Amino acid sequence: MNTSTSSSSVTPAAQALPRIAVLATGGTIAGSAADVTSTSGYQAGVVGVERLLEAVPALSGVARIQPEQIASGDSKDMALALWTTLAQRVNTLLASDEIDGIVITHGTDTLEETAYLLHLTVKGTKPVVLTAAMRPASALSADGPLNLLNAVTVAASAAAHGQGVLVAFNNRIHCARDVVKTSTYAVDAFQSVEVGALGWVQDGRVEFQRKVVRPHTVDTEFVIGSQWPNVEIVTSYAGASRIGVDALVAAGVRGIVVAGTGNGSIHASLQQALADAVKQGVVVVRSSRVGSGHVMRNGAAPDDALGFITAGALNPYKARVLLMLALAAGGTGAVALQKIFDTY
Ligand code: SIN
Repeated sequence: MNTSTSSSSVTPAAQALPRIAVLATGGTIAGSAADVTSTSGYQAGVVGVERLLEAVPALSGVARIQPEQIASGDSKDMALALWTTLAQRVNTLLASDEIDGIVITHGTDTLEETAYLLHLTVKGTKPVVLTAAMRPASALSADGPLNLLNAVTVAASAAAHGQGVLVAFNNRIHCARDVVKTSTYAVDAFQSVEVGALGWVQDGRVEFQRKVVRPHTVDTEFVIGSQWPNVEIVTSYAGASRIGVDALVAAGVRGIVVAGTGNGSIHASLQQALADAVKQGVVVVRSSRVGSGHVMRNGAAPDDALGFITAGALNPYKARVLLMLALAAGGTGAVALQKIFDTY
């Protein structure tokens, strides 16, 4: 099946279907193993976008598909330069009268980071929907084909306009800001732990249960660029020391996100190193390693006195994305940066 149909070869009914760009970046959804029963020993990102689309004939009844192979990798190796390329391509397609929505196939491992980055930087109200799979394309009961069909269904729906960047996975529709990967193997691997999914997609039907309230896409101050301020992540744990933070400061990082215990509490040795880092001009953001809840300002650390920012409900990986964008946009000062974290 050629899903990339030209307007001269399609029926009038098909011509009325929305035009959806499918941008493939690799991942398990494009993974292949020698054995159909293998769901962990496979190579990610080796199946091309045309073959992914051929596995889902029902797509031809949902949308006119424009496939594009952006990358073919394992998302654990996601590079900042690829984020720039991807976001710029999404912006170009969003501005085109020839495209009504975009689906991005991605690896599950860093999907939540890419989704949040795009949520904050792409400029348009047309749907942008990420999807992925936990089982390779070659597997018995592969989850990729249905996830892809559902993602295109969401991208083709009027209800998805203006909702920011979405993640369609295992029949649920998530906001890019809220969604996180919560399982290493289960097909229900993505959850919006604190607030729940935005809605669901099943058998061609798309239903949203709530709207996204924080600003995104066209309503942010962030634009995609090619300069990425160096922001790293450290973790607090029993017996944590200051060695890592001191090395990062010596290496010239602009920001450090700390994945604290509980409500973002930090081992005393590490906290002292981070307070010293602030005095050297490094921005320090307190988040939590717990996986749900939020980090309260001046709760588990005296943020005002130490000059720390708090990440609220963002996990450390998403907090890093926001801090990189804020610094790239010229953000400085604890008060202004805290406002950015409180807003986005
Ligand atoms: C990846 O993130 O590229 C590999 C893992 C996956 O997609 O599940």
